Formats: sequence, C-alpha cells, structure tokens
Amino acid sequence: MDEHEPNPELNAMEVTRRAVIETGTTALLLTTLPRGALAAGAVDDDGLPEHLALTGSKKGCDHGQCGACTVLIEGRRINSCLTLAVMHDGESVTTIEGLAEGDNLHPLQTAFVEHDGFQCGYCTSGQICSAAGMLAENRQGMPSYVTEDLTQPAAELTDAEIRERMSGNICRCAAYPNIVAAIKQAAGLPT
Ligand code: FES
Ligand code: FES
Repeated sequence: MDEHEPNPELNAMEVTRRAVIETGTTALLLTTLPRGALAAGAVDDDGLPEHLALTGSKKGCDHGQCGACTVLIEGRRINSCLTLAVMHDGESVTTIEGLAEGDNLHPLQTAFVEHDGFQCGYCTSGQICSAAGMLAENRQGMPSYVTEDLTQPAAELTDAEIRERMSGNICRCAAYPNIVAAIKQAAGLPT
C-alpha cells in the first residue's frame, strides 16, 4: 500500500477507539480488532501500540522476564509479549489506559503518584496492571510462594507477600519500597 493512502485497518481502529473513549474504558473484545492486527498478534507488545495506538504497555525484555508489558486479559495479568491475539479470541483486554474511569484515576494510579512509585516510569504501566491483577488474585484466595497460613481465605498482604507477588515486575530505577507502599494504600492497608 502507498504510505499516503488511507489505511482501512486504521480507519476501522478509529471507530473502535471512539467507542473506547465514549465508554471510558479500553477493554476491547478481540473479535472487534482489524484482521491485520489479529494476524500480527495484537495483544503482544508490538500490536498494542502499532495497531491500537495504546502506547502505555511497554516492551522491555520481550522474553517474559521484566513485566513491563503486563496487561489484564479477562481481569488476569499476563505478559503480553508472550501471548498472541488468536489465543484470546473474544476475551477482553485491559491496558493501563483502561484502568481510570474518565478523569478519575484508578486507586492504584493515585497511590503510585502519591507515593512516588516510579522514577523513569518505563515499568509503571506494567507495575500498575500487575498490581491490579495481583490484588484480585489475593481477594480470590490465591496463595503465593511465601504465604504461610493456607487456611485463611486471603493471605495477609505483608510487604513480603506483595514483593513476592510482584516479583515478575522489574523496576530498573529500584522504586520498590514506594511501589509496595502504593499497593498497600490501594489495598486499604497502612503504609
Ligand atoms: S517485555 Fe514482556 S515481560 Fe518483558
Ligand atoms: S520507574 Fe524506571 S524502571 Fe521502574
């Protein structure tokens, strides 16, 4: 295609993005994505910014080791660099752009700002999406490697619990103490 010709896939994407703005969420049904985006693997960390103009998710290692690309699929966190759109046909994908409700930031976003949970910010989208998924996992009673009392309906979110559950998200700026504090605040715990 001539680079100056309108790209029908991007036009189709404009419709989807407008709907996204109107509903105040970037949760997308993968069946609505352009075919080209699906073929390229729209959930991965190339497809999200290049086909959907969702630039919040970042590519760090591209090998499932840093967590910078974390998004929520059906509410569960996943490294988007390790998955393809065709593996999630019909499922909802929430990126960092979809966590806020209009002008109201998600409690995790507010807490990260208040606790300086970032420096360069490169890892932050992944950290916040991962924290959202992690808190949901904890509410559902999923234990971690360091959970001591498996009889409790949900593990107490100690610093050790949070650090273990967030260990898949690397911060090269080492903002870890502030990230833990932000997550505790969002969880309604003393910081
Ligand atoms: S870019 Fe996906 S885990 Fe690092
Ligand atoms: S804030 Fe810079 S990598 Fe985490």
